[in-house]
Amino acid sequence: MKYDVRQLPLLSNEEIAQGIFDMRLRYEQDDLPVSCGQFAHVYVPGKTLRRPISVCDASDGVLRLVYQVKGEGTRLMSQMKGGSVDVLVPLGNGFDIQKGRRYCLIGGGIGVPPMLYTAKQCDDPLIITGFRNKSLVILQDDLRSQGETLLCTDDGTAGRQGFVTDLLRERINEVDEVCACGPTPMLKAVAAVCKESGKPCRVSLEERMGCGVGACLVCAVKVRKNGEEIMQHVCKDGPVFNAEEVVF
Ligand SMILES: Cc1cc2nc3c(=O)[nH]c(=O)nc-3n(C[C@H](O)[C@H](O)[C@H](O)COP(=O)(O)OP(=O)(O)OC[C@H]3O[C@@H](n4cnc5c(N)ncnc54)[C@H](O)[C@@H]3O)c2cc1C
Ligand code: FES
Repeated sequence: MKYDVRQLPLLSNEEIAQGIFDMRLRYEQDDLPVSCGQFAHVYVPGKTLRRPISVCDASDGVLRLVYQVKGEGTRLMSQMKGGSVDVLVPLGNGFDIQKGRRYCLIGGGIGVPPMLYTAKQCDDPLIITGFRNKSLVILQDDLRSQGETLLCTDDGTAGRQGFVTDLLRERINEVDEVCACGPTPMLKAVAAVCKESGKPCRVSLEERMGCGVGACLVCAVKVRKNGEEIMQHVCKDGPVFNAEEVVF
């Protein structure tokens, strides 16, 4: 795993939906070899542990990290204005996007941001996003410029009422492969639909992290390889895993 510690100038850090911020950092163009689905580990002054945030975009010299305020670390991040941000990047494996295949990209809630940079690597992706309600809907204009988008909310206040899996079931025959990021129950349901339809599926898992680089074991998850259950690190072996191998 090749990563660097970088001090990236903060361009902006704006609230784009209730409690959700879009942080934009400047990097020297062509100088950030990041794959879609990888993450940045953000240093928050005053906190010992960095905070893992997926790469939402890394184009034209701007690294975008879209995050939701959950606790003290992300609250402090949301208050950052000007100066530079210390990030360890790029971390993790990312989605392996192949030319000539049609992908369905699925994002649920704060799992939507990595799907923007992923969509940029795909030819004509079908992008399905789901949120609890209208106030949490993000990135629709950005995603629409990358492919066909379908939106749903749990309460029907934006897009169709229902879950991403309802939309996936209707359209799964049109795609070769599915990539998903979001809450674990959603990933489990998406994996089940893909299994029924015989479509390959990759899921990006979220686990509490310490070091972010495979040295502390905090992020261990159980996966099944060759019929055996083994532990792997979300930070180093993931965050993207073959859904068939994940022990949900
Ligand atoms: C690979 C990966 C990518 C992620 N991408 C995004 C993203 O793009 N946008 C976004 O909003 N969130 C993302 N998260 C979740 C985000 O890292 C947590 O919400 C954040 O670390 C919470 O920090 P806190 O200090 O606000 O919360 P606290 O609960 O106060 O955090 C306490 C400690 O637990 C860790 N922690 C708490 N929740 C999580 C969590 N869900 N995952 C990992 N560590 C956690 C924190 O890093 C910190 O060390 C991602 C997590 C992972 C593992
Ligand atoms: S966070 Fe330390 S091993 Fe993954």
